[in-house]
Amino acid sequence: MRDNKYQSVMDAIGKTPIVKLKNISKGLKATIWAKLEFMNPGGSIKDRIALYMIEKAEREGRIKPGDSIIENSSGNTAMGLAIVCRQKGYNLKIVIRNTTSKEKIKMLEVLGVDVIQVDASLPPENPESYNNYALNLAKGNPNLFYIDQHNNLDNNESHYMTTGPEIWQQMKGNIDYFVVAVGTGGTLFGAGKYLKENNPNIKLIGIDPIGSVFYDWFKNKRMITPSRYLLEGMGDEFLIKTAQLNLMDDMLQVSDKKAIGWTKKIAFEEGILSGGSSGANVWGAVQIAKQINRKANIVTLICDSGYKYFSTVYNDDWLEKNKLL
Ligand SMILES: Cc1ncc(COP(=O)(O)O)c(C=O)c1O
Repeated sequence: MRDNKYQSVMDAIGKTPIVKLKNISKGLKATIWAKLEFMNPGGSIKDRIALYMIEKAEREGRIKPGDSIIENSSGNTAMGLAIVCRQKGYNLKIVIRNTTSKEKIKMLEVLGVDVIQVDASLPPENPESYNNYALNLAKGNPNLFYIDQHNNLDNNESHYMTTGPEIWQQMKGNIDYFVVAVGTGGTLFGAGKYLKENNPNIKLIGIDPIGSVFYDWFKNKRMITPSRYLLEGMGDEFLIKTAQLNLMDDMLQVSDKKAIGWTKKIAFEEGILSGGSSGANVWGAVQIAKQINRKANIVTLICDSGYKYFSTVYNDDWLEKNKLL
């Protein structure tokens, strides 16, 4: 059970419940379990890494309250950082793609974050692009600490220290598969490393959106030219340090349409309102259940809350404009 009295909102991060997806598991021999990460204070799994990366940097003397922090984020890490920065007294700048859902941008503005929107259509090598803007600003300013969740292994370590042990204890070690979308990879490779150390038979399955470079690199060691996809928080245009693809047993590839369809299915069948990456996760878990066709426990995550996507995933005009209806 969750403790219900904390000294600050930061202490309420983590310790999320796991629930059986009992309607989605019907008709499958395997059982699908989902850890409800939208129950974190910032509404996503990324609160965990925000708290951990900042406190590790503080312990190592790299930052102190009053300093300025910068990060590029699809919105969830930004929200986690905003909470921690408000609590501890840091100034926060966030670089975000101008295609990110309005709700996420608004949430950050309400928390007083300096939000820098960049043109999502810029090629990754452009100095003004999502991938380069924060890095370049931090390079020119020694007083600006760049969190760099895509290359900072403290991200993976946060899941090794929290998400992994929680799943292991909640499932009492009865886990056969851990299936998660790879964004930075912090979740799959951090929590997954912990699970594998406890039972090397647990299989780690990643999910990648069509258009991201991870799938082809993992399967064929081939670097594709990335193309646009709409799922937020998953996949990348580059190989990045935190995506330790060699730790993975297999990877599945999902389309925007399929993942969003499954997001609505989770809402309708389980009463759980989530974002598109959670649709991808549950779709992936069901594919594995069908492939193995035997009793097993498949653990996945509901990464964030559907409240963040009323203008996109749950908006028919947006879906139609993007040919996803
Ligand atoms: C909504 C959402 N789902 C999934 C992920 C992927 O998590 P990770 O970066 O740990 O791979 C993210 C990461 O930003 C996210 O925002």
